[in-house]
Amino acid sequence: MKEHIKDKFIYEGKAKKLYTLKGKTNKILQEFKDDATAFNALKKGTIQNKGVINNNLTAYIFKHLEKHGIKTHFVEKVSDTEMIVKRLKIIMIEVIVRNIAAGSLLKKTNLKEAQVLKNPIVEFYYKDDALGDPLINDSHAIAMKLANQKELNYLRKAALKINSLLIPFFKKRGLKLVDFKLEFGKDSKGKILLGDEITPDTCRLWDAKTNEKMDKDVFRFDLGNVNDTYANVKERIMI
Ligand SMILES: Nc1ncnc2c1ncn2[C@@H]1O[C@H](COP(=O)(O)OP(=O)(O)O)[C@@H](O)[C@H]1O
Ligand SMILES: [Mg+2]
Repeated sequence: MKEHIKDKFIYEGKAKKLYTLKGKTNKILQEFKDDATAFNALKKGTIQNKGVINNNLTAYIFKHLEKHGIKTHFVEKVSDTEMIVKRLKIIMIEVIVRNIAAGSLLKKTNLKEAQVLKNPIVEFYYKDDALGDPLINDSHAIAMKLANQKELNYLRKAALKINSLLIPFFKKRGLKLVDFKLEFGKDSKGKILLGDEITPDTCRLWDAKTNEKMDKDVFRFDLGNVNDTYANVKERIMI
């Protein structure tokens, strides 16, 4: 671990805190919290050890993606709950990839829960808590100047490539990747990198044999002991 000094607090979100690093302008520190929220923060709680688990899982998964040619913000893990990342100007679009019908897709389509999709669905949501993160299309994103067409095409392509890497990654670990959310941003040179996190907060993961839910849905819908679920997912993934 290299020397680093946590400097100024930048932002506290629902799951993480961001800090500047002394003497560095292009890198920041991302600290993962135990706080859990759902339904646009209407439901609040904590999940035991979530900060440690999600920091470790994100580091592990981002390293795997980097190894397979995905450009990400990840630099290095520096403590149980903290990692250094490249500072990005976040593109305010949540990119969702779906392999199996679940969650909000069931309210928008005639698809039934657990129906396997022949082709993955990629969706864009406007990252805006006040508007409740609405589903948008390319024209909406361009009208709001969130990204241009070329960038939207890139986000879609990158999200599908990440999906094709993560499906076998999770399968090997006894988990089905039902759907997940990605955030991208631009680095100091304007290059688009994968940012944020990949964790049971941002993925739907089902047990490969039983379809048991092993992600934040356990917290959302009180399906069981969510502390055990997160600990179990970490054990399965970090092999
Ligand atoms: N590399 C990065 N540089 C700057 N901001 C980032 C980076 N990665 C993620 N972020 C942003 O930092 C915040 C992370 O905190 P989080 O608790 O997830 O916030 P939120 O409640 O907005 O989802 C998010 O707003 C996310 O978009
Ligand atoms: Mg977030």
